[in-house]
Amino acid sequence: MAQRAWRLLVAALLSAAWLTGCGQEPAKRGDGSVRIGVTLYDQYDTFLTELMDCFNGYVDARKAEGVDIVTVRQDAAGSQSLQDDEVAEMIENGCDVICVNLVDRTAPTTIIDMARKNDVPIIFFNRELVEEDLMQWDSLYYVGADAFQSGVLQGEMATEYCKAHPETDRNGDGSIQYVVLEGEAGHQDSIIRTEYSVDTMIQKGILLDKVGYAIANWNRVQARSKMEQLIDSSESEIELVLANNDDMAMGAIEAYEGREIPRENWPVIFGIDGTEVGLQAVISGKMAGTVYNDKDGQAQAMEALAYALASGKSLQYLDLPESVTLEDNKYIRLPYKKVDRETAEEILSK
Ligand code: GAL
Repeated sequence: MAQRAWRLLVAALLSAAWLTGCGQEPAKRGDGSVRIGVTLYDQYDTFLTELMDCFNGYVDARKAEGVDIVTVRQDAAGSQSLQDDEVAEMIENGCDVICVNLVDRTAPTTIIDMARKNDVPIIFFNRELVEEDLMQWDSLYYVGADAFQSGVLQGEMATEYCKAHPETDRNGDGSIQYVVLEGEAGHQDSIIRTEYSVDTMIQKGILLDKVGYAIANWNRVQARSKMEQLIDSSESEIELVLANNDDMAMGAIEAYEGREIPRENWPVIFGIDGTEVGLQAVISGKMAGTVYNDKDGQAQAMEALAYALASGKSLQYLDLPESVTLEDNKYIRLPYKKVDRETAEEILSK
C-alpha cells in the first residue's frame, strides 16, 4: 500500500513537472512540430517498457529524417483518475495525438469525451477497450494483438511438447497436472489466454488435471510467491505451468530455484511475450517455450499512426510492418508467433 502511494506521488510530481514544461513554454498546436503524448498504466511493466524502447527508436529514426517531433511520456501508476488528469494536461499542453495504455479498459469515457471535445485523436494500445467504446468517435484507434491467437499458440506448443516428451507426465497417471498463472483479473489477455491455451490442449487430445491457479498481475515477484504457495499446497506434483506472460513464468522458475528443487523435478513452463529475459530463459531451457508478442511491430505501427494523425497525413499509406493493415479504419493487430530456442536466438540477435 505504502509503495503504491509512493508511486502515485512520484507519478503526480512528474506530471506536474511536465505541466510546467520543465521551464519551457508549452508548444502551441500548429507550430510545425509534432507532439505525441503517451501514458502507460504502469511504467514498471516489463513488456511495455520494451515496447516503449522500440517506440522511442522509431521516433528517433523519424527525427533523424529531419521531422520536428516531441514525445511526452507519463506513468498512470495504476490509477485511472490520474491517467484522466494526465490526458487532460497533455491536451492542454498542445499534444496533437495521445497514445493511451488504459489503466481500466472498461473506463475510457472521460478520455474519449475530452479528446472529442478538443479534437485530439487517441490511439489506445495493449489494453483493449470494448468495440462500442472505440466506435464512439471516428478519431479513436487501437493498436495491439489478438489475445485469442496467443492462447491457441501457447496451447499448441505445450501440446507438441507433451507429445514429444511423454516423461512430462512424471507420475505416469495419464494426465498432466497443471497450474495457470494469470495476469490481471478483467484484462482481455488474461481471460482469453487462459481459456484458449487450456482448451487447445484438451482439443488436441491432452488429458489435463488442474491442480491450481493464481492471479499474479503480470508480475514476477507476485508470481514467485504465488507459485511457492502452489508448490506447498498442491497434493500432486505440478507437471506443467501455463503462465499468461513471461514475467510470471520467470517468477515460477525463481520459485523452483528458491526451493532448491532439482531441475528434473521441475514442471514444464511456458510463457507469452518474448521479453528479453523470457527469450534468455527459452535459450537456457528453463522455459520450454514462449509466444512472441510483437512489441517492435506494435511500436512501429503506433508511431506510424501517431505521426500520420498528428501531421494530417493520409492513413492509407501508413508505414506498417509487412502484412499488417489498418482494419475498419480503427484496428491494427500484430500477429503472435511461437518461440522455441532457435527462434529466441534469432529474435535476440536482431
Ligand atoms: C500483455 C502482456 C503482459 C502485460 C500486459 C499489460 O499483452 O503480455 O506482459 O504487459 O499486456 O497490459
